[in-house]
Amino acid sequence: MIDQYGRKIEYVRISLTDRCNLRCQYCMPECGIEKISHDDILSLEEVLHVVKLLADCGIRKVRLTGGEPLLRRGIVDLIREIKAIENIEQIFLTTNGVLLSNMADDLINAGVNGFNISLDTLNEKTFEKITRRNLFKKVFESIQKLIDSGVEIKLNCVPIAGVNEEDILKIVELARDNFIKVRFIELMPIGCAVDFKGIPIGEVKSKIESIYGKLISHSAFIIPNYQGPAKYFTLNGFKGQIGFIDAIDHKFCNSCNRIRLTANGFLKLCLNSNAGLDIKSLLRSNADDQKIFEAIKQAIYNKPKEHHFNVECRMQNAKLNFNAMYQIGG
Ligand code: 5AD
Ligand code: SF4
Repeated sequence: MIDQYGRKIEYVRISLTDRCNLRCQYCMPECGIEKISHDDILSLEEVLHVVKLLADCGIRKVRLTGGEPLLRRGIVDLIREIKAIENIEQIFLTTNGVLLSNMADDLINAGVNGFNISLDTLNEKTFEKITRRNLFKKVFESIQKLIDSGVEIKLNCVPIAGVNEEDILKIVELARDNFIKVRFIELMPIGCAVDFKGIPIGEVKSKIESIYGKLISHSAFIIPNYQGPAKYFTLNGFKGQIGFIDAIDHKFCNSCNRIRLTANGFLKLCLNSNAGLDIKSLLRSNADDQKIFEAIKQAIYNKPKEHHFNVECRMQNAKLNFNAMYQIGG
């Protein structure tokens, strides 16, 4: 459907859990998080119910995220059922890759169209430093397996000063040698991330160009009507593409096509705003579908115009500590 600013909203990102089997320093504290109690998490039946209503409101694409979505039992069946909903065209998964190699075949058979996998480093030691877990081999095994399967994959790297600068070019090489997308995402100042210094996308680009030559813009002619926040490029001699998500300065709010459903059943309209709708309460108050459908339509129509990751907001977020990434699902 079209919101009040004329944007066509057709993509929902659903966080299935706020739990994770890694503890990335810029995302979660070492001790983990105050878990949402089991009763407050939407059941898989409730998630399916919401997706059906969202499909009636014009949602065509679904992404499952977390925390780590593969920790949620029943995810394979959920994917199959979401895929069977009329009008849902595509379903994607964002994962840290730890559990992926064992589940990949089932997920692909259930209908997953593509995977986003976090990969901040190719160095085992750095991986352990960032994630506080010694699980690099598991993740890399998953990536290798998916590359071999030919399914669409995007690798997401968040460059952080003094942490993984040395890895940027090595990760770029994966796009040279394989038909995949490698994306660099600017660190957004939310939750634990406020203690780290993200490397600006401009610097990442210069570093890449100093070795591989000029980045050649790819987005426009490859994907007509492309709406996502990443700008894609290729390089001479590369099989794959390099994407950049310039989160802080270059805003993409005016072409935003997405909404989010948090694990505890809140329909969140913008990454950096608390505006939204408590769908869980509606579902559990036994409101009829027509009423929930109308409430969702109203909420989407009122999606905020833009986000504000500016300096004052950074300070405010740090103080309030709201909107951590594991709660929103990226
Ligand atoms: N800024 C940017 N990206 C982040 N991620 C987690 N926290 C942040 C942040 N503050 C990324 C992870 C993963 C994706 C789901 O979100 O690295 O790739
Ligand atoms: Fe887990 Fe992703 Fe957060 Fe790392 S960034 S702790 S993988 S949710």
